[in-house]
Amino acid sequence: MYDLTIRPRRLRVTPVIRDLVAEARIDPNMFVQPHFVVPGQNISEPIEAMPGISHQSVDTLLQTVASDLKLGIRAVLLFGVPPEGAKYPDGHSAYAPDAVVPQAVAALKKRFGDDLAVITDVCLCAYTDHGHCGLVRDGRIDNDATLPHLARMALAHAEAGADIVAPSDMMDGRIGAVRAALDEAGLAHTGIMSYSVKYASAYYGPFREAANSAPGFGDRRSYQMDARNRREALLEAQLDIEEGADILMVKPALAYLDVVRDIAEAFSQPLAVYNVSGEYSMVKAAADRGWIDERAIVMENWHAFRRAGADIIITYHARQALAEGWL
Ligand code: PBG
Ligand code: ZN
Repeated sequence: MYDLTIRPRRLRVTPVIRDLVAEARIDPNMFVQPHFVVPGQNISEPIEAMPGISHQSVDTLLQTVASDLKLGIRAVLLFGVPPEGAKYPDGHSAYAPDAVVPQAVAALKKRFGDDLAVITDVCLCAYTDHGHCGLVRDGRIDNDATLPHLARMALAHAEAGADIVAPSDMMDGRIGAVRAALDEAGLAHTGIMSYSVKYASAYYGPFREAANSAPGFGDRRSYQMDARNRREALLEAQLDIEEGADILMVKPALAYLDVVRDIAEAFSQPLAVYNVSGEYSMVKAAADRGWIDERAIVMENWHAFRRAGADIIITYHARQALAEGWL
């Protein structure tokens, strides 16, 4: 006979018991909703490759964030989308006085104060005419020449009132450069969420359409991480911590859960995962065809992030999940 003294199924009998013993839980406080901010007024232009996500001007963004706050979304991640004519080799329009992200930050903080955590993406690729995240010299990405520009961009966001700046460029030394610039300007209280472990990924496709930030030549493999590497993630995170990162991130999320687990175990800083555009749009496309159950798929993915060790989930699905009562 078999010994059936221990029966795992006992704790799966009813939904209440299953909820009682569930290990991974999702709480809206861990969500960050990304936004694509454009210049102008009264603009809310759907992004074709990302159903449910739009380009919005600052006035419209304020309305969206107000209704998101009511749903329980208390953190945003802002991306600026400048007009084509405002792109230059060194991306200096990223920190122009009238740049759209500092304007959005100031408007959001004025309206919502500390009820909202405003995080800004810091990277030049939407602002350079060649679409790379750093300056180009002799066909290569010039790491050290890029750092002061990133620092100026982060400073412009922090001076406008950003709670946290989030460098996503993957230049070596950028966290140190940003931290020093903030501290020098008396902004020691501004946090840094580093895109510490950011892989060169095909999952960013829809985002590059949304941000109009695809590289004009070559690819990003000389600065973003190689998808074949696991141990290197520990080095990237370690360096960012030494340079002053307050929050770490692994990006993309789904295909890199082994790395999420590694980072969560190795370091004590809060860990974010970025559930990126390609991951979002694949779910949307399959759900649209009726091939998958969108809610069930999204919840399963989010629970996987939590199981792997993520504290913060950056996700385009946050609003829909809360609006439709998925939690
Ligand atoms: C810019 C940046 C990218 C993403 C976030 N910041 C794209 C890239 O590196 O090409 C991707 C986000 C997403 O796909 O949702 N450096
Ligand atoms: Zn970039």
